[in-house]
Amino acid sequence: MSHKILVTGGAGYIGSHTTVELQNAGFEVIIIDNFSNSNPSVLDGIEKITGIRPLLENFDLCDGGKLNKFFEQHADISGIIHFAALKAVEESINNPLKYYRNNLAPLIGLLENMKQRHISNIVFSSSACVYGEPAKLPVTENSPIQKAASPYGETKQIGENIISAAAESDPGLKAVSLRYFNVIGAHDSALIGELPEGIPANLVPFLTQAAAGIRDELKIFGNDYSTPDGTCVRDYIHVVDLAKAHVATINRLLQNKNKKKYEVFNLGSGKGNSVMEVVKSFEKVSDKKLNYKIVDRRPGDIAEIYASADKANTELGWKAEKTLDDAMKSAWNWQKNLVIK
Ligand code: UD1
Repeated sequence: MSHKILVTGGAGYIGSHTTVELQNAGFEVIIIDNFSNSNPSVLDGIEKITGIRPLLENFDLCDGGKLNKFFEQHADISGIIHFAALKAVEESINNPLKYYRNNLAPLIGLLENMKQRHISNIVFSSSACVYGEPAKLPVTENSPIQKAASPYGETKQIGENIISAAAESDPGLKAVSLRYFNVIGAHDSALIGELPEGIPANLVPFLTQAAAGIRDELKIFGNDYSTPDGTCVRDYIHVVDLAKAHVATINRLLQNKNKKKYEVFNLGSGKGNSVMEVVKSFEKVSDKKLNYKIVDRRPGDIAEIYASADKANTELGWKAEKTLDDAMKSAWNWQKNLVIK
């Protein structure tokens, strides 16, 4: 019998790609999503790719009454992957309470239901932003956690603490936090991808929109950092690789292969690439010249961060397989598809 996995935020960018990989691996997926930053048409994409339409419950996870009712109706869930959260850094600075409520109350509600109903396995979407500006590269899971630069980042740190404490205190609970580096790209089919609302804050969706003529030009935030070409360096990880890491993680928990009740893994490629390298990769795979301009640094940006993915490689048996070129090609195909629609 296949395991039933609850994917919160399963219509979102990373959630939808993970749903595809879970279904491809034989899991039954049930999604909770209120489409606050996604679109119901994503389910059509998932169905076209996998041949299976995942079950959907459309409600806000902050509604504790509905959440309890959900679990009453779905007592047979084997594990939870909790993606649903707000993620706009700047908005979180302007509206911190919205972030604390939306990113933390649902997590507590999920954990309470898990305890009450003896559901043992949870995977939490965390972020490399918990490391702040690292003193040493690459960052390992033991690198120091630094004061968060925004309420968004803080909700990831607090979320990790909440899960860790819950796992340590509840004999029946096993949990993993996955710290994502910079997630980019789209499914090869171009049927699902990133759907940013309004003006994208992140590099790749802005870049592909600029190339599609939706934005005038890409602004590169600073080329005077102490990095090889002066632009910031990040660890870009293809969303399909990232999605596969979630399947490996849920399998690890279901098969009781975890070494501790609470574990943390970096999910990155293990390689740093500069903003200019991302631009060059795009130009190569798209055969297009990108309209860009160097402007001032963006406040809050750090010069350089990339992961050591050794722990995930060894313990999860997972490795990023796709290249930066693969990711840029898929992001561009997805963008072109969106324009045609
Ligand atoms: C940001 C968030 C991080 C969050 C992640 C995923 C900040 C400080 N960090 O990471 O907490 O987990 O997104 O949502 O906001 N860039 C440009 N021009 C652009 C956009 C970006 O040059 O129009 C550059 C940035 O300066 C940076 C790189 O591209 O060097 C990547 O930026 P971005 O995609 O926004 O991700 P991060 O800032 O690394």
